[in-house]
Amino acid sequence: MMRRVEHHASLSGSVRVPGDKSASHRAVMLSALASGESTIEGLSPGLDVAATSMIMEQLGACRRDIGDVVVVEGPPPGLHHSDRPLWCGNSGTTMRLVSGIVSCLEGSHRLEGDTSLSKRPMDRVAVPLGLMGSSVTGEGPRVTPPLTIVGNTSLRGIDYHVPTASAQVKSAILLAGLFAEGPTTVHEGVRTRTTTEDMLRLAGVAVSSQSVDDGRRVTLTPGRPLAHAWRVPTDPSQAAFFCVLGLIHPHADIEVVDVENSPERTGFVGVLQRMGADLVERPGASGVTLRARSSALQATEIHAAEIPSVDEVPVLSVAAAAASGVSAFRDMGELRLKESDRFEGSMALARLLGCRVWSEGDDFFIEGLVTADAFSSFAINAGLDHRIVMSSAVAGGAGHGCDIDGSDTVSSSYPGFFDDVARLR
Ligand code: S3P
Repeated sequence: MMRRVEHHASLSGSVRVPGDKSASHRAVMLSALASGESTIEGLSPGLDVAATSMIMEQLGACRRDIGDVVVVEGPPPGLHHSDRPLWCGNSGTTMRLVSGIVSCLEGSHRLEGDTSLSKRPMDRVAVPLGLMGSSVTGEGPRVTPPLTIVGNTSLRGIDYHVPTASAQVKSAILLAGLFAEGPTTVHEGVRTRTTTEDMLRLAGVAVSSQSVDDGRRVTLTPGRPLAHAWRVPTDPSQAAFFCVLGLIHPHADIEVVDVENSPERTGFVGVLQRMGADLVERPGASGVTLRARSSALQATEIHAAEIPSVDEVPVLSVAAAAASGVSAFRDMGELRLKESDRFEGSMALARLLGCRVWSEGDDFFIEGLVTADAFSSFAINAGLDHRIVMSSAVAGGAGHGCDIDGSDTVSSSYPGFFDDVARLR
């Protein structure tokens, strides 16, 4: 779907972004793995989490929605094999975490995704899950989907160093480790989001974490998760779009309320503050409130390790486009492997806005235009990438408008995004 975004004359008010996608996937999965009824409040309304939920139902869980509360009932004997393909849609989290879950179930499972997901590498989960005793095969050397996973009811726990910073890989291994023989230890060189470990602990599973240099070592003792009453916090990576919009727009004062505050997720706040942003955090009823007001931004240097999943880089590149000076984005290779090639996509967006942009290896550079008022009006194809849709909308709304082809992809994580922006006008 093509959508026109007009420049917004001024923006003010407060927004509460939807439930965190990461926590939502895990709440549905852990509830399905438990025996009996769990409840989930604040579940992400996006299609990615809906895909996870449908797969859990296909594997034997029951879901019913009572008002805003989702009730998931895990079958007492545990999840079981499904003959039908498991449709993961656009969602890498679904495919990678479900790979861990079905690795423990008897039978051959087929996992499929859309054209974006079908290009993403699954060797990063196939290798460790293979070491545990399951078999994960796909297309070509990078094991791209569709996947065939032959599960094994007697997996072995492993001690594994994750070669890339990836919470999804860590999580796939830990979920498989729940039903393995012996403990599973995952070493990560960069501290990625702790959603899985934190939620496993809440579900009564023994998980210990130790900081090691810049990374972490996580050890899980096998055990079935217990049913739980989940409260999903809001999604910090969605808050980032409203923060950048408020900062680069010439007449804006936007509050984002109840933002989940965890160091692995809110690195973007420090980056923006370093750029001179008038971005103030104050404790709120749950999480923090972020207030973003029109600011004159300066260029900065951003390392991937500051923003471990690199989810906020596309919108930070829009901030860099409105700053004065050259911003450097360092060690951003992982960006190429997201819903689209966000390395090229972030550069392409800044170029469309009128910036001089270049790359060297895994680094890229954006020479800012000092103000969003200098942005060109542009047209972009979002390429099945929700974050490119929202980053483009931020640039167009603060600058001089844009046309976004494929804007409906925003529904993978934030179906109400354009309505929430409209309410600030
Ligand atoms: C996620 C981890 C991140 C992130 C994704 C969600 C998760 O990917 O990009 O949107 O829920 O674990 P990585 O596995 O690259 O960290």
